[in-house]
Amino acid sequence: MFSLPNKVTIIEVGPRDGLQNEAKPVSTESKIEFITALQQAGIEEMELTSFVSPKWVPQMADAKEIVSAIPKIGRQFVLAPNDKGIASALDAGARAVAVFVGVSNSFNKKNINKTTAESMETLKPLILNLKQDGLFVRACISTAFYCPFEGAIKPEDTMALCRQFAEWDVDELSVADTIGMASPIESYNLFHKLVDAFPDVLMTAHFHDTRKMAIANIFAALQAGISRFDSSAGGLGGCPFAPGATGNVATEDVVNMLHRMGIETGIDLDKLCEAIKKIEPYVSNSINTGMYTLYKNRL
Ligand code: HMG
Ligand code: MG
Repeated sequence: MFSLPNKVTIIEVGPRDGLQNEAKPVSTESKIEFITALQQAGIEEMELTSFVSPKWVPQMADAKEIVSAIPKIGRQFVLAPNDKGIASALDAGARAVAVFVGVSNSFNKKNINKTTAESMETLKPLILNLKQDGLFVRACISTAFYCPFEGAIKPEDTMALCRQFAEWDVDELSVADTIGMASPIESYNLFHKLVDAFPDVLMTAHFHDTRKMAIANIFAALQAGISRFDSSAGGLGGCPFAPGATGNVATEDVVNMLHRMGIETGIDLDKLCEAIKKIEPYVSNSINTGMYTLYKNRL
């Protein structure tokens, strides 16, 4: 019998990955209410927002207000792609920064207007400074399995990018199936290699659920030794620069599966569904994940 962890950490990415893809502006007040309700449900690690160009992602233009308003409970991440983003994030009081880069050049060019090598060159001094100043650095690796423009990514290329970040002493790697195309076997194989190669870095899996394999991928990654998962309440969102990809795996479905297997998360499922209910009126697609639908039908 394979071994599973007793406890798993969920990193809620709904307020960032979930909302960044919403075309209609969601008010800052509604975002703060959503984040607060997620914290009340027991979420201790969360991506709150991103400090990116408002011309590229208008929905994240209120990053500063969000960070200033949210109590610093647990580990609250903000995404930042460059020096400008990092400076604004620190100004707003952020203590944990997530940088992001794609393994494939084509995705990276579309997402941050740089090749992968150019991005790494930009990020190196920024990461070294953040680490020197005692901040927590998370590196998000997009297109770790498949790229929407280039197809399959060689695991060696993903490993090489992760190695670079590990050498710069990042605290965490969040390795992403950006377009939700990886199979559970691919998930197991890559995460097994990553856990083995980088035992000193917190290793997190980030699955989008485009082809409904995310829950199976999580079960595979658990067996490979992963105990940290990014997920989005209500399964919201997606990356505006990854055509055809849908939202992240739904937090409520992941939490339900883990609890049913006796794995602790510290999250209250009913309260989590209450948080989703708060944001539901403001998102374009109806939320019909397994656990949220059951919760709503019970009301
Ligand atoms: P660029 O156009 O090459 O940048 O964009 P630039 O340096 O020429 O600047 C253009 C304008 O943006 C300037 O303003 C800058 O000041 C401003 P202007 O002079 O025209 O008025 N600017 C900024 N403003 C606010 N904050 C900043 C910032 N930087 C420049 N940080 C850039 C380059 C990186 C800025 C742009 O491409 C960008 O913002 N991209 C963000 C894309 C994004 O947010 N993608 C989604 C997140 S990643 C993701 O979802 C994947 C993940 O979930 C994992 C997975 O699933 O794969 C993490
Ligand atoms: Mg994502």
